[in-house]
Parts: sequence; C-alpha cells; structure tokens
Amino acid sequence: MARLDPHSYNDSTQPQISHLAWRAKVDFSSRTLKGEATLTFAAPGTGPLDLDTRDLVIEGVFGDGGKPLQHELFKPEPILGSRLHVELPANTKAVTITYATSPEASALQWLTPAQTSGGKHPFLFSQCQAIHARSVVPLQDSPRVRIRYTAELTVPAELRALMAASFVSRNVNGAWAMERYEMPQAIPPYLLALAVGQLASKDLGPRSRVWAEPAVLEKAAWEFAEVDSMLTSAEKLLGPYRWDRFDLLTMPQSFPYGGMENPRLTFVTPTLLAGDRSLVNVVAHELAHSWTGNLVTNANADHFWLNEGWTVFAERRIQEALEGAEVAGLHAALGRRQLEKTIEGFVDRPELTLLRTHYEGIDPDDAYSLVPYEKGYLFLRTLEESVGKKAFDPFLRKYVDAFAFQSITTEQFIDFVEKELPGALKKINSQAWLHEPGLPGNAPAPRSVRLEELQKLGARLPEEAQGKKWTPAEWSLCLESMPRPAKAADLEKLDARFKLTGRGNYEVLISWLALAVESGYQPVLGRVEQVLGEVGRMKYLKPLYTALAKSESTRALARRCFDKYRDGYHPIARGGLEAILKKNAA
Ligand code: BES
Ligand code: ZN
Repeated sequence: MARLDPHSYNDSTQPQISHLAWRAKVDFSSRTLKGEATLTFAAPGTGPLDLDTRDLVIEGVFGDGGKPLQHELFKPEPILGSRLHVELPANTKAVTITYATSPEASALQWLTPAQTSGGKHPFLFSQCQAIHARSVVPLQDSPRVRIRYTAELTVPAELRALMAASFVSRNVNGAWAMERYEMPQAIPPYLLALAVGQLASKDLGPRSRVWAEPAVLEKAAWEFAEVDSMLTSAEKLLGPYRWDRFDLLTMPQSFPYGGMENPRLTFVTPTLLAGDRSLVNVVAHELAHSWTGNLVTNANADHFWLNEGWTVFAERRIQEALEGAEVAGLHAALGRRQLEKTIEGFVDRPELTLLRTHYEGIDPDDAYSLVPYEKGYLFLRTLEESVGKKAFDPFLRKYVDAFAFQSITTEQFIDFVEKELPGALKKINSQAWLHEPGLPGNAPAPRSVRLEELQKLGARLPEEAQGKKWTPAEWSLCLESMPRPAKAADLEKLDARFKLTGRGNYEVLISWLALAVESGYQPVLGRVEQVLGEVGRMKYLKPLYTALAKSESTRALARRCFDKYRDGYHPIARGGLEAILKKNAA
C-alpha cells in the first residue's frame, strides 16, 4: 500500500483514474446533484480500489458491461471524508458509480434568487480546491492523479451551465437544457469547476470573454478590459498559453476567494469591481496559475507553496511589465508587511510557517494563510537576485516546460534547481527557507519610492493632499502599518479627512475597519455589520470577525452577525469563521 497524499485515500499501487465521464442533473429544489461518474483507468486493473467521497449517497457501483460490483462506503473521517472501497474483477477498464450529492456538499453553494444580483434566479457554484471535489464526484481526489473529462449537465432551461472546460453543445428539451463540456487536457481534480445561473458574456479579446450576471456584466467588462495584454505579457515570461481560452466568471458576492484559477474559466470575486482597475492583480495571479499550478502542479498540500509562491512571483512580474516596477514594488512591500503579521499570529504554531509543510492530520483549509504565497515569493526573489535575472528567466521557462502536466514535490523542485543553477540553493540557505519557521534573515525588503514616502510619515497622519493621491495599495499599507490600538481622536480625524468608512474599494475599507475595530473604535461597527452581510470573501471576513471576537466588548456582536449571516456564506467560509469564533470564545 502506498498512500502518497495525506489528504486522500488514493493508493498509488492501485489502478489510477485517467478519465472521468460525468453526467449530473442539477436539482435546485432538493439542492442536490444526481450523478453518474464513469472512471476509466490509465491501464485495466484488478483488486482493491479506494476512492474519496464526502457526504455522497452511493446508489450503485458497476464494472465493465454494467456488472454490479461489491463495494463498501466507510464511515466519514473528519478531514478526509468517506473512503469508498471497491473490489475490481480481473482487468477492469472502468467503474461507473451512480450517486447523489448532499445539500451540505462542502464544495457547493446553492444560492437563492435573493442572494444573486439579478434577484430572479437561483445560482449554484463549486469551489473544489483543496479537497472538496470529492463532495461533488467520487474519485481519487489527489492532485497527483490527473484526469481528462467529459461532462453533461442537465439544468433548468432558463439557466446557463458553465464549466472550466471546453464548451461542446447546449440542447434544450422542454423545461431542461443539457450542456456538454470537454476537458481534453489532464488536470488535477481540484480544478474541476462548474457554475449554473443566469449568465451572460461579453468578449474582451480574441482569447477571452467575461461572464457575469447581466446586472454586473458591463462593469466587469470594463474592469477586466486589460486581460488580453496580461495574456501577452504572461506568455513572454512563461511560454505559450496552453489552455486555448482564458475566460473569466464574475461570481456572486458569496464567493469565498478572490479568485480561483479554474482552467479556461477563472472564477473571480465581484469585490474586484472597484471601478478603477486597481485590483486586477488578482486576474494576473489567476492567469499566472495557468502555468504555475495548472501545468506544474503541487503533488499535495505539503507542496502548496510551489503553486502559490511561483504564482505570486509571476503575478508581480506581469504587474511590473504592465504597470511598472514602482507599483509591483509597492505590492511586494505590502505582501511582506502582511506576511510578517501572519507569522506573528502563528507564534503558537510555527510549523505552519514552513514552506515545505507536514500537514498529515491537518485540514488544508485550516492551515491556509499567506505563508506559501508571500514567503514563497520572497524565497524565489532571493533565488532570482542571487543568480541574476539573466539566468533566472530561462530557468523559469525551463522549469515550466520540464514539468508541464505533472504534479511535483518540493524535493523534485530542489533537484531541478541543483541541476540548472548549481550551488545557488546553498548560497541562499534554502534549508532555512523551506524547512525552518519564520522569515530568514536574507529575505529581500521590496522597495519603492512611494513606499519610502509613506514610511517618512512615521507616526503622523497623512495630510489631505497626500492621502488624496494614494492608490488603494498605499492606503492598505498605511493603515496596516499603524500601531494598534490607534487613538480614537486619530481615527476620527482620518475618517473625517478621507471618508474611509464610506469607501467602496474593499482593500481600503477592510484595512480601515480592521484597524478601527482592533482599536475599539465604536463608530464603525454599523458599517462592519453591514460588510459582514454583503461579502463572502474570506480575506475580508476573517480579519473582521477575528478583530470583533478578540475583544470582549464586541464578541457578542461577532456571534450575532455570524448567526444572522451564516446561511449566506459558502460552506468553506462558514467552517473557517466558526473556527475563529471558537478560538476566541470567552
Ligand atoms: N488557488 C487560490 C485560491 C485557493 C487556494 C482556494 C487554496 C482554495 C485553496 C487562488 O489562486 C488564490 O490564490 N487567490 C487569492 C488571490 C490573490 C493571492 C491575488 C485570493 O483568493 O485572495
Ligand atoms: Zn493562487
């Protein structure tokens, strides 16, 4: 037996799935998918097969020729879910499983019409990373196992079904429509993605269009208009784009992340629609995953930094190419500030600040933080600075080409660097970067002129003329660098001068509200309560709930808000917020 992924029952000595043929009927009234999954093996197999499932009702398991197969669904384990064990007769090519999902499926959020911007139709979407695909389809839910797939989704005819795959056809039959998709490239299961709702699209360029609910489509098309130049710039750095199209789907407010790099159809939070294109670095980030993550994939959650560290690195290079070194430097500096805070917050759990982690027995959602992103980024920057751009850029291209469509470990990465850039790892003490907690002493301090201007302020508040010129990133950096608790008089002055409580840009608004709540500044609490009911992005919910729950005077408010809004949060966000409230309970 060889279980190579601590978060999957997949056993590498058993037959490995290489193709999924999926059919599912989307039933909004019962909030379930009634599905049939045919899993074809890379080579015919015999004997035991263990699959990952979570909260699935298994109706039947069939072998070649439709023969019913003996199987057992084990009782659920907290992190992994339920193992589905099947005995395969000699030389089985494929198994077919008929099943239904649970209304509580951890990947899925079922929205009522009132939770959409149109208000007339329900909406369904998935979020499978890290280990939620198993709540949608029974499979080997480890990124080591790459699959191609075909899908047939049956949905109410007034809705569109989108998948992160290539569109094949749509056929309407009475009250129902069947939409077919195909994913001809081998992907890790966490990139399986679907969304069903009232959706419309607008072309952004020859390879891109944006999808959204009709009410936000124009706004989204304006905000993301630069996507084609991003693609061109990314290709210059990383090589040809291998996924054909790069479309975007603007999600409902409750989407728990900023963006999710679902291949061919990146999902993005509507909080990016700031009206000034100031948050499009998230699009650059998801685009960069088309190489670092979707082509070269982490073998399991312990190597997650390979996905995110490389992607932040590429994101900032794209940003530098499009907006200049100054802007990219400022974002990198903000990243470092937030990383330092994250590391401080993990004083009791230093093991969560390693790059190469050991997450057996730990839920990747609970361990999720900025560490793999920003520490990973700084590590790669250190390597880049040590060998020089002239050597590093070709190395990056070679890395992507060497491991395209493979799922790799940190150790494989290390071997590759040793071969391509001999001696470089030792020189920068990669041992400390990868295997020791905290931030190594040789971490680069990203620089920018605007950052230095900001730092000159010291403890003083920005003057009116100065603050008026600031971008959202400068505002976040200023607010996040202010010592806590800030004086009420200072906060009052700041808000009067710059109308921070009224900001529509969430990066600025949340940095401000978190500072105010952490400083016990009561006048913002009404706005905080409102925000907790209007967004579902964890990056914004978590700091606000944490700040509220930490202080005795606002702990009850945190609880009350959570009870009031929890049904509107995605299951993953719900779980994360529950953990925060529990940790900070009186
Ligand atoms: N792949 C991640 C989101 C993710 C990670 C979902 C782990 C589930 C588990 C995505 O690419 C991401 O990093 N999003 C960031 C964007 C940011 C760093 C620019 C986010 O959601 O904030
Ligand atoms: Zn990412």
